[in-house]
Amino acid sequence: MIPLFRVPMSAQAPDAVAAVVASGQVGQGARVEQFERELADRIGNPHVATLNSATAGLHLALRLVRGSTPGGEVLTTPLTMEATNWTILANGLDIRWVDVDPATLNVDLDDLAEKITAKTRAIMIVHFAGYPVDLDRLHGVLDRAEAIHGHRPMVIEDCAHAWGATYRDVPLGNHGNISVFSFQAIKHLTCGDGGLIVLPNEDMHRRAKLLRWFGIDREGPNRLRNPPDVQEWGYKFHMSDINAAIGLANLSHSDEVLRRHRANAAYYDSRLAGVPGLTLTQRAPDRQSSFWIYPLQVDDRNGFVKRMDAAGVMVSQVHMRNDVHTCVRDYIDQLPALDVVDKRLVCIPVGWWVSDDQREYIVDTVDSGW
Ligand SMILES: Cc1ncc(COP(=O)(O)O)c(C=O)c1O
Repeated sequence: MIPLFRVPMSAQAPDAVAAVVASGQVGQGARVEQFERELADRIGNPHVATLNSATAGLHLALRLVRGSTPGGEVLTTPLTMEATNWTILANGLDIRWVDVDPATLNVDLDDLAEKITAKTRAIMIVHFAGYPVDLDRLHGVLDRAEAIHGHRPMVIEDCAHAWGATYRDVPLGNHGNISVFSFQAIKHLTCGDGGLIVLPNEDMHRRAKLLRWFGIDREGPNRLRNPPDVQEWGYKFHMSDINAAIGLANLSHSDEVLRRHRANAAYYDSRLAGVPGLTLTQRAPDRQSSFWIYPLQVDDRNGFVKRMDAAGVMVSQVHMRNDVHTCVRDYIDQLPALDVVDKRLVCIPVGWWVSDDQREYIVDTVDSGW
């Protein structure tokens, strides 16, 4: 079976981990600091803080923006991994679903514009499959909302799929919002498990670093002998040196991983465009997807899945719509575009492990059934 996901681990990772384990310093230390410096350089934004997952990053992002008055809404996409949305509930906020744009599988910015109200505390977007949301258009939507409502909700970018993606030649994580990346096992850059929050300014960066570790300043002198007063309670969300060592060992390896995802996607784009019965997603010239997954929309999904299964190619929808879960039944809304997309969405293997022969075989199998 050609798998849909694999763990991209560099050959240097086992030795890097062994060195940390033998060093006596396994918690957050020098490896974390080095990893953060290198990540900041790549993104072009110094305000980064590593974490133990993207889920932790989304919890923290919402905590940073939710303010002290209880309640309020977060506009969000239902087409994502549940981590994106359950963190909204965990922060005591209400969900307001925004429909998807079938061309991109990201949030529909027209629907989003209509749903911003005085109650909107934050806007959660997901760069689905690693394809960036049109961030300048979103900026314009927020300018108009600010003129009407007198406040500008913060945008949180869930970049869990999107390591290495760029918008207008600038890496995600550098567009004035809060961005959260995942370094979980099957992402382009893996730490085993891990995440990153990227902040738009130094004040938020300082607060995020405090809140990731109980509200205690780990960088201050004598923190163990004379713990400083905790002004704001925080979480245990930090990354360990073990995970950072894996991430550091994988950092340059992830460039090759990303290159191969993109090369396979370009091959699919050229061979699958115009094939009857299936629709590809948009490719705008101002952004570069990371192609963590390669989504298609197909007319007969059950038939498609059976055919690919029989041919030994694993395919899947990857993310189920979140709005149908019992725990969010209070937020149910009309989402006509999602109703259509949800029946047609399926992803084919696109990752670094898919060889030239395999991708040709996958295209021939996709193309054979219509
Ligand atoms: C869109 C999205 N957001 C958040 C997450 C959570 O990431 P993590 O496993 O690093 O917490 C995932 C995980 O795959 C995801 O796909």
